Amino acid sequence: MRMFITGVAGFVGSTLAKRLLAEGHEVVGIDCLSDYYEIEIKRANLESLESPGFTFIEEDLNVADLDHLLEGIDVVFHQAGQPGVRKSWGSDFSIYLSANIEATQKLLEAARKNGGLKRFVYASSSSVYGNAERYPTLEMDRPRPMSPYGVTKLAAEHLCSLYAENFGIPTVSLRYFTVYGPRQRTDMAFTRFVRAAVRGEQITIFGTGEQIRDFTFVDDIVEANVKAALVDSPKGSVFNVAGGSNISVNNVLALLGTISEKPLDVKYIDGVAGDVFRTGGSTDSIEEVLGWKASVPLEEGLRRQYEWARVAFAAPVL
Ligand code: NAD
Ligand code: UGA
Repeated sequence: MRMFITGVAGFVGSTLAKRLLAEGHEVVGIDCLSDYYEIEIKRANLESLESPGFTFIEEDLNVADLDHLLEGIDVVFHQAGQPGVRKSWGSDFSIYLSANIEATQKLLEAARKNGGLKRFVYASSSSVYGNAERYPTLEMDRPRPMSPYGVTKLAAEHLCSLYAENFGIPTVSLRYFTVYGPRQRTDMAFTRFVRAAVRGEQITIFGTGEQIRDFTFVDDIVEANVKAALVDSPKGSVFNVAGGSNISVNNVLALLGTISEKPLDVKYIDGVAGDVFRTGGSTDSIEEVLGWKASVPLEEGLRRQYEWARVAFAAPVL
């Protein structure tokens, strides 16, 4: 099939592209190579995809000729966006508006013109829930984002559902719960922790470290995308994609200490606005409709990320 991946140079987008190319699909990827984190990491991600089946377009979704780019595309995987809950306050909010909301609306308009589109998969986020009403949180529970980032991810998710309802675009929104694994962004907890462990540097914890996350290994996220593309589901569907770990940041550090066989140097500072105390998603719905279940337990996934970091961060460049 002919697949279109937005944000293909990023953490999730590049991992997804690798899998689709390995399975013999044709992949057209777009990315503007934003400077939110090191561009050399994105370029390395792209280099790893070089193959006859892969076409890369370096462009911003807000200026690209999307009508033309979506001609003949079977599935859109919309991974592009401005991530990060903690940076979305103040003047940075305009970046979130443009990358997360406006770009999604433009892509959906282009999708309307592609009559043969089989699926439009959108990378939504557990951040739409904020501090949820209950755990495990169900898709039908009231979303109450705690960060401007979460507001933009929810708005874009609503855009997907309303384009499904009004124009029959076959959208599926996947609410990813904190994704980790090799290639994880350098602003995120696990990459910061494993890099510090490899280099013997200090780890900074925001708040008490007692915050709980339902961390999800990136290969499981990729598998959910593949299932969302290939398995039938009602147009406008929304699913949680959660790894099931439900572990505190302090307990992640304890596990990393065991894996790295090193004492970790940990400093605690004030909590950051936008950070929720807990995430935890029910995956009953995605299991029932798409047949998806997380397969990588946290300890194994963290071990794999640590092994990746030992190579990626061996030289003091990134
Ligand atoms: P990432 O930053 O590594 O990848 C996103 C990519 O999108 C980047 O390479 C960036 O350059 C590109 N991009 C941004 N704006 C663009 C634009 N206007 N046009 C073209 N390209 C643009 O992030 P990630 O961690 O891989 O996340 C992928 C998606 O999943 C994002 O939409 C994010 O909101 C969502 N998500 C991520 C997580 C997580 O834990 N990583 C959790 C929930 C949701
Ligand atoms: C992550 C992603 O960054 C968001 O893009 C995504 O939308 C969100 O998951 C989601 O699930 O929807 P977050 O849970 O904050 O957000 O992910 P991490 O950066 O891995 O942080 C996990 C926890 O560790 C947070 O409580 C954070 O405050 C803490 N942390 C992070 C630290 O204590 N120190 C650090 O150096 C980094």
